Amino acid sequence: MPGPLEPLAAIPAQIASVSDYEPFARERMSDNAWAYVSGGAGDEITLRRNREAFEALRLRGRVLSDLSGGDTGLEIAGQKFDAPILLAPVAYLKLAHPQGEAAALLAASATGCGFVISTHSSSSLEEMGAASSARRPWFQLYFQPERSLTLELVQAAERSGCAAIVVTLDAPVNGNRNREQRAAFRLPPGIDAVLTRVSSAPMLFHGTAGAPLCGGILERAPTWKDIEWLKSVTELPIFLKGIMDEDDASQALEAGVGGLVVSNHGGRTLDTLPATIDVLPRIAQRVSGRVPLLLDGGVRRGTDILKALALGASAVLIGRPYVFALAAAGAPGVAHVVNIMRAELEVAMALTGCRNLKAIGPKALWR
Ligand code: FNR
Ligand code: LAC
Repeated sequence: MPGPLEPLAAIPAQIASVSDYEPFARERMSDNAWAYVSGGAGDEITLRRNREAFEALRLRGRVLSDLSGGDTGLEIAGQKFDAPILLAPVAYLKLAHPQGEAAALLAASATGCGFVISTHSSSSLEEMGAASSARRPWFQLYFQPERSLTLELVQAAERSGCAAIVVTLDAPVNGNRNREQRAAFRLPPGIDAVLTRVSSAPMLFHGTAGAPLCGGILERAPTWKDIEWLKSVTELPIFLKGIMDEDDASQALEAGVGGLVVSNHGGRTLDTLPATIDVLPRIAQRVSGRVPLLLDGGVRRGTDILKALALGASAVLIGRPYVFALAAAGAPGVAHVVNIMRAELEVAMALTGCRNLKAIGPKALWR
């Protein structure tokens, strides 16, 4: 079998939507990398449900609304965004493209969207140019087995000018990723989690098969006390990612966090969790606008963004779509994906009579 193709030198005209990147990515990624990026946990019921739930929602078309002064901009945690889109933290972006994280950050800067650096980045903060970036990235944190190691990561993120910390809480143990297991996924030589000192087998997270709960590796899994501790060691706003329950959202607010990310990790952790868009309304009701509420999982269209905002999100993150574009065409591909989604969002806003993001509410949905 021939190996993966080189990234595209130009973006072909037949790429009109974000999903159109997928076949181009497939031809440019190894079977190994493809299984890792595209797969989910178990029977991938949650992975599919994230899409089905968006598809099942209908929009309410409105005419003759005053659309003057149209605007998709917003501010989150004191930072301005041109559109309510962030590139989600994704591990090992060099699996998709040799420029990996640097290309994603460049595309985010070029399009005025956010980029969240993964704890399991395959590039150092220097290599990706975090400190010199026109836009301050955010940093996704996995708690390390020792607080001193966690603190090192937080301080490195601060030194690189990161604007927020996003703590991912839904993966204290690796999901049951059958697709990866069947493909015998391995990191290829030269690609590693270079930011963590516990290289390539980062502690709890890459739990081996066996007994994750009873075998002791969860003895040191983080608890609410660790969030308290984190708050005491950094001034940066702290977002909690992986919130799927309104009681957890309430507890997070009590803990004084700066924001929440409703996420099921793109269907990669616990299979048969509901879709994120299904749980968003309850969580939004609990949060009641007190902190920014982000959402990810299955966002593939501008209409999906509008639906998420209508149900209470401030902004969305996208995962696989930008990774596929990165694999297909590097930084220009990622920027193209953001621009496609933003243009689709603008069309959807115009046709539902919403001239800016504040105008998007539950009434944008047809019931
Ligand atoms: C992820 N995700 C993730 N999340 C996180 O907090 N830290 C990480 O290192 C990673 N790594 C990662 C790798 C890959 C290949 C994927 C696909 C996802 C989850 C990610 O941030 C996000 O929650 C989902 O990708 C959103 O779902 P969609 O947009 O991929 O459907
Ligand atoms: C994943 C981890 C790294 O989803 O968050 O693969």
